[in-house]
Amino acid sequence: MRKGDGEVKFGYFDDRDREYVITQPDTPLPWINYLGCEAYFGIISNTAGGYSFYRDARLRRLTRYRYNNVPFDFGGRYVYLRDNESKEFWSPSWQPTRHELKDYTCRHGMGYSVIGSTYAGIEAHTRYFVPLGENLEIWQLTVTNGRATKARLSGFASIEFCLWDAQDDATNFQRNFNTGQVEVEDGVIYHKTEYRERRNHFAYFACSEPVGFDTQREAFLGRYRSWDKPVTVEAGALTNSIAHGWSPMGAHQVSLELEPGETKEIVFVLGYHENPVEDKFDPPGSQTINKKTVKPVIAKYLDSAEADAAFERLRSYWEKTLGVFQVNTPDPHTNRMVNIWNAYQCMATFNMSRSASFYESGIGRGLGFRDSNQDLLGFVHMVPSRARERILDLAATQLPTGGAYHQYQPLTKRGNNDIGGGFNDDPHWLIVGVSAYLKETGDWSILDEAVQYDNEPGSEQPLYEHLQRSFNYTLTRLGPHGLPLIGRADWNDCLNLNCFSDTPGQSFQTTTNKDGKVAESVFIAGLFVYAGRELAAIAEKRGLEAEAKKYIGETEKMLAVINEHGWDGEWFLRAYDDFGRKIGSKECEEGKIFIESNGFCALAGIGLEDGKAASAMDAVGKHLATKHGIVVQQPAYSKYYLELGEISSYPPGYKENAGIFCHVNPWVMIGETRLGRGDAAHDYYSRINPSAREEIGDLHRCEPYVYAQMIAGKDAPTFGEAKNSWLTGTAAWNYYAIVQWILGIRTTLEGLEIAPVIPKNWPGFTATRRFRGVAYEVAIERRGDGNSIALTVDGEAIEGNIVKAPGDGRGTVMVKGILS
Ligand code: GLC
Ligand code: GLC
Repeated sequence: MRKGDGEVKFGYFDDRDREYVITQPDTPLPWINYLGCEAYFGIISNTAGGYSFYRDARLRRLTRYRYNNVPFDFGGRYVYLRDNESKEFWSPSWQPTRHELKDYTCRHGMGYSVIGSTYAGIEAHTRYFVPLGENLEIWQLTVTNGRATKARLSGFASIEFCLWDAQDDATNFQRNFNTGQVEVEDGVIYHKTEYRERRNHFAYFACSEPVGFDTQREAFLGRYRSWDKPVTVEAGALTNSIAHGWSPMGAHQVSLELEPGETKEIVFVLGYHENPVEDKFDPPGSQTINKKTVKPVIAKYLDSAEADAAFERLRSYWEKTLGVFQVNTPDPHTNRMVNIWNAYQCMATFNMSRSASFYESGIGRGLGFRDSNQDLLGFVHMVPSRARERILDLAATQLPTGGAYHQYQPLTKRGNNDIGGGFNDDPHWLIVGVSAYLKETGDWSILDEAVQYDNEPGSEQPLYEHLQRSFNYTLTRLGPHGLPLIGRADWNDCLNLNCFSDTPGQSFQTTTNKDGKVAESVFIAGLFVYAGRELAAIAEKRGLEAEAKKYIGETEKMLAVINEHGWDGEWFLRAYDDFGRKIGSKECEEGKIFIESNGFCALAGIGLEDGKAASAMDAVGKHLATKHGIVVQQPAYSKYYLELGEISSYPPGYKENAGIFCHVNPWVMIGETRLGRGDAAHDYYSRINPSAREEIGDLHRCEPYVYAQMIAGKDAPTFGEAKNSWLTGTAAWNYYAIVQWILGIRTTLEGLEIAPVIPKNWPGFTATRRFRGVAYEVAIERRGDGNSIALTVDGEAIEGNIVKAPGDGRGTVMVKGILS
């Protein structure tokens, strides 16, 4: 399929089944999927690579994974088949044996992946998924004999246990090579390292028809061998080894004797289980795991009918979850991303924040305060109750100053002291997150929830007060021009204006060598105005008019400061550095114009009346927009600037140094809609839409079904190459931009606003939106070129463009909009 530059496809979308079907195993990068959407999670690549964990990828990792491996994606949930007559063995998922397979396919779907192929007349595929409500994953291996003769096969399935704490597992061998312990009972392998002491959880790996097992890696693989050629698989027999220290693993052997045309299914279950501390052992006083409560769970899911039923429940869950918003526009890429993949990615970013992907090790970062609040924008409509819980968790890590820990660990839900706070944009994102929740649900009770500061018992105050402190945080941290001080960084983690680091290995994010009383951020100023207006609207709704006025007063003051000190003539400045010099100005030699301040100010509606927003968006179009998306700044920094920090540490065109940060592109899209320019907004949307980039797979390289954080910018030798797929604020912001601003189906405190700003050549679109218990069937028809809309609700014309709840028990409402 190779045509021009980078024009290769590695699969196709199956929109009906909500799957991406990969047809070639050696994709440019591992193309992954997530299993699980509650507490048990797995990452799985298109060749069955990846690992699993319970809640926290660092502290409760079930299976081992080596990052930075060669090849990149190695180690996983590997199945082998062996023909006992020819003695040949292979892996239906291609890795680890890498045989030349027929009809290789990997179907990544909503919470599951099916990987398989045909080899030597044997068709085999494995369906991997995590049932709802359970802490386990199921692998259903189906093998069909396509030969004219009987096939005598053996099957093997293997995983490598991680000794729980992934960081320790990767470093502390002097201890860990001695601690590994397993039990095998009734053919089930139990991994119980450290269970004897401070753990009351264990992992298990079970099989529906086990005929042999191994638990010691060396016994399974053989000396000096790797996963592509285990000595046991080669020989056709596992050795029933019991691990004592070294590297515990789980391998099962099954026997597959198949008549011509016959199909057989084998089920494997990998899971996590906890026992009450006082009930760890059976009999009490022994060192044997108490298996009373886990055995029924294992038995249940080894039954393939139960496994199938669990799979159907997972399907309906996604049907329902995605059903909250569905759209039909003239653009298939828009439809597919909004209806399926972008929403799905928003679930992953909500669950993982930036912790566990193939680019985030799961060891370093926990959940980000800024990131997780923004993730709510694309998630809150799907499972509002979980958004509520997340908001309360986040707010409980807020500091009494109103500032925030930049990150927290999901298992402990406590602020991360190593990273600390001082990212001065952080607190405002809480207002943005809470506001999105209120607009979606109308659940005002959340504001009265008593929430701790810094997780200190006794410090509880209503959530509403947390928002007040968030806002006030900036008021007490203004710089020489009256703009917000930037602190360690604002949204752009790499614009470190108080860092001045010349020592290798220092963290740009946590090193602050200047006292930070000078460097200011125009971006935070824009965010302050935006958040201040949201907070004012909330206050007003609560009947706190004086307070609302105060917030508006402060935002007006900030607007005046932005006008005076934040405007460069044609666009918004980005910041002032520690010497009070401009950043993002025509006066600068490099970094004359930045996307963040321009995008966010326009999004916030700053400069709509006096032409500044239009001028800024035009400047962005002229200086920053490329065919692959909008870069962070121009010109790129060609050398390291001590006073700017990490941004200038990246070679030109990568990451924050003039890369295309897909997270902030939507700010410009929204800015364009605020100017009524639907063509430009949708054009920017399409440039980074992964589905629209599917045809250039060899250039784009990342998965065509999810966004990547970054696409290399025009200064980079690999212009157009995406990197860091999956866990990025890109998911939520693009979803929010297309759904709420371009399609214009927008949640407000008052009801559902309908304000599309769509391309001129779209005749219209239809959408279904379930909102606060009512299904809104929206049909938009274009009759003129503009964006003015006339609405009828169930045939009756309404004033304005906010559709209020019917209030008379109607469950479905037809909304028709005529654009002219
Ligand atoms: C990463 C971070 C995010 C930050 C962005 C820009 O995506 O997760 O918090 O805003 O980079 O630096
Ligand atoms: C690095 C990355 C940036 C990310 C930050 C998070 O600086 O370049 O994108 O936000 O790490 O710690």
